Amino acid sequence: MKLLHLVFHPNLEASRNNRTWKSQLEASGKITTSRDLYREYPDFSINVEKEQALLLQHERIILQFPFYWYSMPPLLKKWLDDVLTYNFAYGPEGDKLKGKDLQLVVSVGGREAFYTGFDIFTTVPDLLRPFQLTANLAQMNYLQPEYMFNADSAEQETIEAFGRQLTQKVDDPTRSDPRQYLYDSMSRELNQVYEDLGMAQG
Ligand SMILES: Cc1cc2nc3c(=O)[nH]c(=O)nc-3n(C[C@H](O)[C@H](O)[C@H](O)COP(=O)(O)O)c2cc1C
Repeated sequence: MKLLHLVFHPNLEASRNNRTWKSQLEASGKITTSRDLYREYPDFSINVEKEQALLLQHERIILQFPFYWYSMPPLLKKWLDDVLTYNFAYGPEGDKLKGKDLQLVVSVGGREAFYTGFDIFTTVPDLLRPFQLTANLAQMNYLQPEYMFNADSAEQETIEAFGRQLTQKVDDPTRSDPRQYLYDSMSRELNQVYEDLGMAQG
């Protein structure tokens, strides 16, 4: 499977999380093409033909970015607006991305307690829902998003441990099955219920 890894970070040099994960993924040899989009398009002028050609050449698209204002960095939004065009990603002839996988990888500055607490009534997967709907419209398989909380204060070892897990999963073909995604999230929730009830299996 050919993997296209697109990193959207305004200052990758100064990044701890995204830079580490990019290096780890590249070193794994599993990524076909890895790119730093802010470096490629410092003026935000995106080469749409090039981006679309790259999408066509790969089967799994990985969008990696830091969570900014409960959403995405602006170049990623522009990339979506410019590249996922009518009759390419949607519309009567817009089936060019059909069957491809969309994998999100997100560093989240906030703590898990904030996003799971009852005070905000939402979760990171909920806040990422626009990507899921976009994938749906483009007939892509939306894979379970990978994200790490507490990104700003995480120890380097924690960042690398996340990167190692990511590297293991990133080319797993079973993740392309949406039923696997459902199964994974349901079993995680069930396990949490068992744990809360003190019935966790050893
Ligand atoms: C402009 C800006 C907006 C941010 N918005 C959020 C946010 O809405 N929620 C959050 O949890 N963290 C937020 N953060 C923290 C980033 O998610 C965090 O710094 C980043 O994931 C760290 O990754 P890095 O080490 O690769 O830079 C924001 C940071 C910046 C600079």
